[in-house]
Amino acid sequence: MKILLTGGAGYIGSYVAYLLNKLGYEVAIFDNLENGHKWALKNNKFYFGDIRNFSQILEALSDFRPDAIMHFAAYIKVEESTKSPYKYYENNVIGSLNLIKAALMSNVRYFIFSSTAAVYGIPKQVPISEDSMCNPINPYGESKLMVEKILKDIARSNFLKFGILRYFNVAGADIEAKLGQANKNPTHLITRVLRAALGKIPYIEIFGTDYPTEDGTCVRDYIHIKDLAFAHIEVLNYIKKEDKSEIFNVGYGKGYSVKEIIKVAKKITKVDFPVKIGKRRPGDPPKLIADPKKLLSLTNWEPKHNNIETIIKDAWEWECYLNKNPILLEY
Ligand SMILES: NC(=O)c1ccc[n+]([C@@H]2O[C@H](COP(=O)([O-])OP(=O)(O)OC[C@H]3O[C@@H](n4cnc5c(N)ncnc54)[C@H](O)[C@@H]3O)[C@@H](O)[C@H]2O)c1
Repeated sequence: MKILLTGGAGYIGSYVAYLLNKLGYEVAIFDNLENGHKWALKNNKFYFGDIRNFSQILEALSDFRPDAIMHFAAYIKVEESTKSPYKYYENNVIGSLNLIKAALMSNVRYFIFSSTAAVYGIPKQVPISEDSMCNPINPYGESKLMVEKILKDIARSNFLKFGILRYFNVAGADIEAKLGQANKNPTHLITRVLRAALGKIPYIEIFGTDYPTEDGTCVRDYIHIKDLAFAHIEVLNYIKKEDKSEIFNVGYGKGYSVKEIIKVAKKITKVDFPVKIGKRRPGDPPKLIADPKKLLSLTNWEPKHNNIETIIKDAWEWECYLNKNPILLEY
């Protein structure tokens, strides 16, 4: 089976490409390398291009003729999206619309879309199931929800089947594969605490300690990149076998607070990095925890790395490797 991955030079796409290769799929990557890395492409067939450019994406699809697309390419920073909403809607929505149009013109049957827990906004209850109300509170989440809606309408009137994966907080790395997150200005908590342990960030700021959670700090459901990657394959298998479109939460159903993450990171790194207490950031929901029942019951997905120490240990090995090879942040 042939699969084209947009954004396959980025953190998640490059790891899914690696796994697909290992499992014998034929893979091609389409990326503009704006936030991805050349080294993350490995030996995959590569189309340099931008999803905002319709002819570039149509050309790549006409040449590669994939059976499925996995669509990772997007801008991903919540705070930036509130400052530059146009940029987010243009890339995440118009780019996706271009891609879907090119997919239909190229007779691509299966479309896997990287969505996010940010589509739920501030949930009324946790754990969050897929039928909970979607009410995003920032342009990033809104842009992803718009694409979900477009896919639903298009799938109703076309032969395209989609699998939407709403990821919770993705973390961890695979040191053997030499793949992990390599962002110069990371916003993800686990990456930031590990950079603080390495002295690359002077301190970690906790944004609010007065949330209605056990220790007053925000709680998130962290999923290991290795388990997340398998979810893509199992969802693709499911939509193919059942010949239907479906939305899935991808998380473990267990949450950790900011303070808990800091504690585990200090234990693993053996560094007592400085921590400051700051004010709440606008729009941070107190708790985001997935209800993963649907993914567990409908597909063959089985979490194998659902242990916060494993996630942080694997991310730490990767950060130490990056620290020794800083050039990896550059190309
Ligand atoms: N990282 C997370 O915790 C998380 C959580 C929820 C959802 N997601 C979603 O997962 C997907 C991948 O996230 P990531 O963490 O790997 O991000 P990333 O920034 O590491 O990767 C995104 C890739 O897309 C490419 N890209 C961006 N715009 C493009 C364009 N216009 N044309 C071609 N390529 C383009 C970038 O160069 C980069 O290689 C995104 O859609 C994101 O919204 C990520």
